Amino acid sequence: MTVKKISKIQPETFKFTEDNLIHAENEIKKYPKNKRASSILAMLYLVQKQNENWIPLAAIKYVAELTGVSYIQVYEVATFYSMFNLSPVGKYFIQVCTTTPCMIRGAGKIVKTCKDHISKNQNEISENKLCSWTEVECLGACVNAPMIQINQDYFEDLDGDKAKEIILELLQDKFPSPGSAKNRKNTSPENGKTTLLEVKNA
Ligand code: FES
Repeated sequence: MTVKKISKIQPETFKFTEDNLIHAENEIKKYPKNKRASSILAMLYLVQKQNENWIPLAAIKYVAELTGVSYIQVYEVATFYSMFNLSPVGKYFIQVCTTTPCMIRGAGKIVKTCKDHISKNQNEISENKLCSWTEVECLGACVNAPMIQINQDYFEDLDGDKAKEIILELLQDKFPSPGSAKNRKNTSPENGKTTLLEVKNA
């Protein structure tokens, strides 16, 4: 588990755009007044989407005021989940799974590629400002290990060379095709199906 880095440089204020405010208010209305803490995840997700993929402290305060929940409750949620960034990230944010299945299938080589080509330490932005990376716990795609998440997409069945190829493309501001590097469909066996052969692919 990595410690969350909170940016030392913080904007003084944050507020939703008009459209996001309407969206946020509709979301909050789904919950009874004494259960509005349940809308925090949706609010933080919206903040991050609006604010180049990271959540400033001013936004945590804003969400607390908007939902009527205490600042510390919103802060706790924002600092607990690894999908929320509390400091700026690159345009391409790479999350490298280093939990056991990915680790024993070569995640270490992916981490080394990130260190060699993006930044020596995780949570630092590359010199050209396009990429940043971090280690995360299991992203739920263990059967296609090792894998990484880039922004919203999964890249699976990687090895050191494929990871390097992907990262070099990102550094040139190109987004490669997500999915399995071995062209597996979902979690099917590498050499094709061996069971349920009569079931047609959707
Ligand atoms: S261990 Fe890497 S996705 Fe589960």
